[in-house]
Amino acid sequence: MDKIIIFDTTLRDGEQAPGASLNKQQKLEIALQLEKLGVDVIEAGFPVASPDDFQAVSQVSRKLKKSIPCALARCIKKDIVLAGEALKPAKSPRIHLFLATSKIHLQYKFRKTEEEILSIAQDAMRLAGKYCEDIEFSTEDATRSERDFIFRMLEAVIKLGAKTVNIPDTTGYSYPQEMYSLIRDIKDNVPNINKAVISAHCHDDLGMAVANSLSGVLGGARQVHCTVNGIGERAGNASLEEVVMAIKTRRDIFGDMRTGINTKEIFRTSRLVSKLTNYIIPSNKAIVGKNAFAHESGIHQDAILKNRLTYEIMDPREVGVSSNQLILGKHSGRHAFKERLLVLGFKLSDKQLNSAFERFKTVADKKKEMFDDDLRYLVEDEIKPQKPLWSLKDFYTHSGTSTTPEAKVVLLKKGKPQEAVSGGDGPIDACFKAIDKIVGIKARLEDFRLEAVTSGKDALGHVNLKLMVKNVAYSGSGSSTDIIEAAVKAYIDAVNKIENK
Ligand code: KIV
Ligand code: ZN
Repeated sequence: MDKIIIFDTTLRDGEQAPGASLNKQQKLEIALQLEKLGVDVIEAGFPVASPDDFQAVSQVSRKLKKSIPCALARCIKKDIVLAGEALKPAKSPRIHLFLATSKIHLQYKFRKTEEEILSIAQDAMRLAGKYCEDIEFSTEDATRSERDFIFRMLEAVIKLGAKTVNIPDTTGYSYPQEMYSLIRDIKDNVPNINKAVISAHCHDDLGMAVANSLSGVLGGARQVHCTVNGIGERAGNASLEEVVMAIKTRRDIFGDMRTGINTKEIFRTSRLVSKLTNYIIPSNKAIVGKNAFAHESGIHQDAILKNRLTYEIMDPREVGVSSNQLILGKHSGRHAFKERLLVLGFKLSDKQLNSAFERFKTVADKKKEMFDDDLRYLVEDEIKPQKPLWSLKDFYTHSGTSTTPEAKVVLLKKGKPQEAVSGGDGPIDACFKAIDKIVGIKARLEDFRLEAVTSGKDALGHVNLKLMVKNVAYSGSGSSTDIIEAAVKAYIDAVNKIENK
């Protein structure tokens, strides 16, 4: 077997997606799921960025048993020291150093010569080596760098102990053949390259992050950087699920290459990341989108019934997609509810189970058929990691074609009700304005998305929204059979994040 190492950077580069910020509890929850998924290396954060990120890396390092925790650092003393300190609780930590090698970065970002950059990298390698043995070095903007300089840089850092050398397509500029030839050239021109693993880190600005990563693998890379659902800076990173399933599905191309990913955990991981980052997965997203395994045309449906291989290249069960069958109704008992949640991967405490079951009963009263997706949203709402400062007690709206919309909202803060009344452009806007009056926050609504979790007039509505406060984005989500209530819950979720900050 030829192992392809999966380096997940959902918690670092993924978190750089605008508005996707995660707190340390959320990072830990995702890291533990990534470990269950079988990810080899988990980049948990950039400790110098904030005390919260430092603690997130530290907490993840303490809890991981199999996956290697990794922290990012520039080639700057403070970054390296903090990365080393944050990783202290880990059994096998990795420091990930990065330094740009392209002319444009050297000239405008650093105003330094190649020799000066080389020497900064060497000093950083020496310092990082004092904290751990496992050091990965990235030549930032590699795909726009002079190859000869990359070769010199890689030779120098490998000499000083870099065990992995990562080749980033930082701007998502590369093309599959180019990535292939770059990796091959590195293999052919860096004299000590056999002492390190070559890695690919590709961004999706031209929609080629996955293709470029896979070409890198064919060229000789044995580690791939990726993120769940492909989230990340700008257009995002190579998506983990696509890279892994391409390698698994196209055995004719990838031969005996294997990742250590338990693909049955892909769907659950994708949903968790989407939920905690509030990044909606597009319906047509490969592998994890709602329609990824849906067959609409009659011709396709007919052929699939005769032999599913006619139109299906992967079995949805391989990636953990459940059949989304009709499962529970208002007469279902607590036992059936708990059993179904276990199948869906939710182990709740007794307290969480009681509260989720109560909510299930209320929703099942309004909605006759409860599907797996309904249950997921309902339960995920119940198990938000922190006790929120604000919660919804009650609301009332009044609107129509010939009347000014108005809303009254009652929130609870530490158990005490506070209420406000407001008008607005519509009932949802009026509710949001009433909430603004109660909490005293001036936020601008940047994004608002409503989707039906399943089909039918009584489907659960799920709202994802983004609020901007002083140029910082805060996301929130909420679900209910009443879309105004879903929107109000999402708004309160975002407000709680603002308050936490
Ligand atoms: O895109 C990039 O170059 C990065 C580096 C920090 C590896 O994210
Ligand atoms: Zn990146």
